[in-house]
Amino acid sequence: MKRQERKLEHLKFSLEIEDRIRHSGFSDISLVHRSTSGIKPSQVDLSVQFLGKRLEAPIMINAITGGHPNTLEINRALAVAARKTGVAMAVGSQKAALEDSRVRETYIVAREENPEGILLANLSATCTPVEAVQAVEMINADGIQVHFNVPQELFMDEGDPDFGMILPRIRELVENVNFPVIAKEVGFGMSGETILDLYRSGVKIMDVGGSGGTNFISIESARRGQSNEEFEDWGIPTAVCLFEGLELGLPVDFIASGGLRTALDIARSLAAGARLAAMARPFLKVLVQGSPQSLVDYIEQLKQGLARYMVMTGARCIGDLTRVPLVITGSTAEWLIRRGVDVNAYARRQK
Ligand SMILES: Cc1cc2nc3c(=O)[nH]c(=O)nc-3n(C[C@H](O)[C@H](O)[C@H](O)COP(=O)(O)O)c2cc1C
Repeated sequence: MKRQERKLEHLKFSLEIEDRIRHSGFSDISLVHRSTSGIKPSQVDLSVQFLGKRLEAPIMINAITGGHPNTLEINRALAVAARKTGVAMAVGSQKAALEDSRVRETYIVAREENPEGILLANLSATCTPVEAVQAVEMINADGIQVHFNVPQELFMDEGDPDFGMILPRIRELVENVNFPVIAKEVGFGMSGETILDLYRSGVKIMDVGGSGGTNFISIESARRGQSNEEFEDWGIPTAVCLFEGLELGLPVDFIASGGLRTALDIARSLAAGARLAAMARPFLKVLVQGSPQSLVDYIEQLKQGLARYMVMTGARCIGDLTRVPLVITGSTAEWLIRRGVDVNAYARRQK
């Protein structure tokens, strides 16, 4: 029951707490405008292939909820919006349904409303292969996100920050299931070192989940009526994670998430090299403060915004966008240069 109540508190506090001053790093990334682009809006193709399916746009509604009866209508609306707009979706952690089968429906509804779309299961990175199979089968998922949330667990009364043996467990998971496993941070970011550890353990898709957006130290502190300001700026900005990961040159697909807030942030992440751009809180907020239709309209606006940035940079397709020159400035550039990333190579790219 405690886990179920927590789901509602996460929804409540995530909506109340604003993004921190510590930004996602995307404001340091500029796409270079091209006056001679010559591309008509009707020529722009946002579609991509992911996990063997086609998406209308490389956007994902990231893991948010499920597990309490009150979350069923939220997952229904998210799934309907994903279907109508052709984007991917992940459900929230399914541990609650593994513990109590009565709440399975709060997750299954997402597959019922979107039978053909890309839908991802979600559990902790400490899950067993058996649990992962149960979660995937529950919603006929296209793969599973396994989340890393050590800071969150540290600030939860009921938290279990026992991530000992995490890499052998991830390896065991990857080796024993026959569906894609996506390692996902929940907003504290993955460094190049983390990405290399995960890759060596067999993970081929990573959601870098950097800082700058939803902050689970703030949310857990608010649930306990505490303030932990000192810790609330912890984490690696999302743009930094992405460039650190890409610099390694590994055969890994990256998903950008954590503090993406605009069509421009989506364009910036895709231009950097992310396969998908994902957001959680903005979608939840539009839905809860508006209606299921407002969520559909909002996603369509993001798609239209992305298409406009593609026209203005001369990119017909998402592949073209990854060749548009990118100028990295400010504290993001400063960090990346000190970490050995060749930021000038992005500025010199030729479209
Ligand atoms: C209310 C809420 C609940 C969440 N629950 C989960 C979860 O169960 N599993 C997970 O991997 N991430 C969860 N997340 C994290 C998001 O998937 C995402 O990584 C994070 O919110 C950063 O993205 P954002 O800044 O766009 O919100 C949750 C986020 C919110 C707002």
